[in-house]
Amino acid sequence: MAVLVTGGAGYIGSHTAVSLHEAGREVVLLDNFSNSSSGAVEAVRALTTPDMAFIEADLRDGEALDGVFQRYDIDEVIHFAAFKAVGESVGRPLDYYDNNLGSTIGLAKAMVQHGVERLVFSSSCTVYGQPDTIPVTEAAPTGAESPYGWTKYMSEQILRDACESLPLNTILLRYFNPVGAHPEGTIGEDPNGIPNNLVPFVMQVAVGRLEKLRIFGSDYDTPDGTAVRDYIHVVDLAEGHVSALDALASESVGCTAVNLGTGVGSSVLEVVEAASRAVGTPIPYEIVDRRSGDIEKIWADPAHATAALGWTSTRDLDDMMRDHWNWQRSNPNGFAV
Ligand code: NAD
Ligand code: UD1
Repeated sequence: MAVLVTGGAGYIGSHTAVSLHEAGREVVLLDNFSNSSSGAVEAVRALTTPDMAFIEADLRDGEALDGVFQRYDIDEVIHFAAFKAVGESVGRPLDYYDNNLGSTIGLAKAMVQHGVERLVFSSSCTVYGQPDTIPVTEAAPTGAESPYGWTKYMSEQILRDACESLPLNTILLRYFNPVGAHPEGTIGEDPNGIPNNLVPFVMQVAVGRLEKLRIFGSDYDTPDGTAVRDYIHVVDLAEGHVSALDALASESVGCTAVNLGTGVGSSVLEVVEAASRAVGTPIPYEIVDRRSGDIEKIWADPAHATAALGWTSTRDLDDMMRDHWNWQRSNPNGFAV
């Protein structure tokens, strides 16, 4: 039996493929390379087994998907494939709804048709917006502030409804801010163009591809005035997916949401300091205005993840920065040769 990993050439998918292999699972990767490259698949195979199956296909291609379920003995699915850039989603809303909802619906239909009942879905803490109470629990109200955010909110609802009446069990994993890389430094985050997210931007400054970081706002109601997030090591996150599949295999959960975060909030300045320690030189930065749409502070209450999945994060901010830097330093241009 095998686990189908959609978006398996992407940042989180590639790390999860390695953790799944280490946990003894057979893995089938699927990706259309819309935001990744074959270099990631080769790097995953080098870390695991040259035999790891890979299918290049668009998840919205029903025939191709049907072929995957016919050809491989799949009994569980992790669904990472999606477009994920918040700003871009504002300019291309229809592409985001089409890709993110079309993929999720097509996949769920194919699973039901082929009798596959266990699904782990990539959701995001973006569904909480700025919560009233921090740390935020899964019971907090949800909504969205961008087309990307709505695709996560709507996908959650679609899967909740599907699990009500169809033979489907789903864990909705709400990720906080994944950063870091596999400790070998051969897979990692490889964003197209100028990174939007903090840590990839910081690391491209460190490697000399960008001049300096712009810190968006220092007048927030936080200890040092910069915004606070819950950064989580991507390998901890990957291991959370293995735990989620184990939980799905042991009991019927229906459809349940689980936070994957550390429970620790770090400010932008704390991240910059940790990155400077990892790199060994100060990261140049300037303070500029707040970025529109940003929230002030959020971090997870990870207690439900521990109770429901038996999972807890083990890596701290210094581990995240060390491993992210190791990847960036060894691959200054990402997977591009
Ligand atoms: P990523 O872009 O690196 O990986 C997504 C992969 O899916 C890419 O390789 C892309 O080529 C592929 N893909 C997209 N649409 C596809 C389609 N229709 N058919 C086949 N493949 C397709 O992103 P990531 O950071 O690894 O994120 C994975 C998932 O986690 C996404 O659903 C994302 O929304 C969610 N998420 C990510 C973060 C984050 O900070 N990285 C935070 C919260 C949630
Ligand atoms: C963003 C997305 C969120 C998504 C997450 C992970 C928005 C509004 N939210 O969250 O939906 O799940 O990425 O992909 O885009 N920062 C700087 N300078 C920079 C970049 C970032 O100061 O060049 C700051 C931001 O203002 C923020 C923090 O660093 O306070 C983290 O930013 P980022 O990595 O973009 O993640 P989020 O904003 O948390």
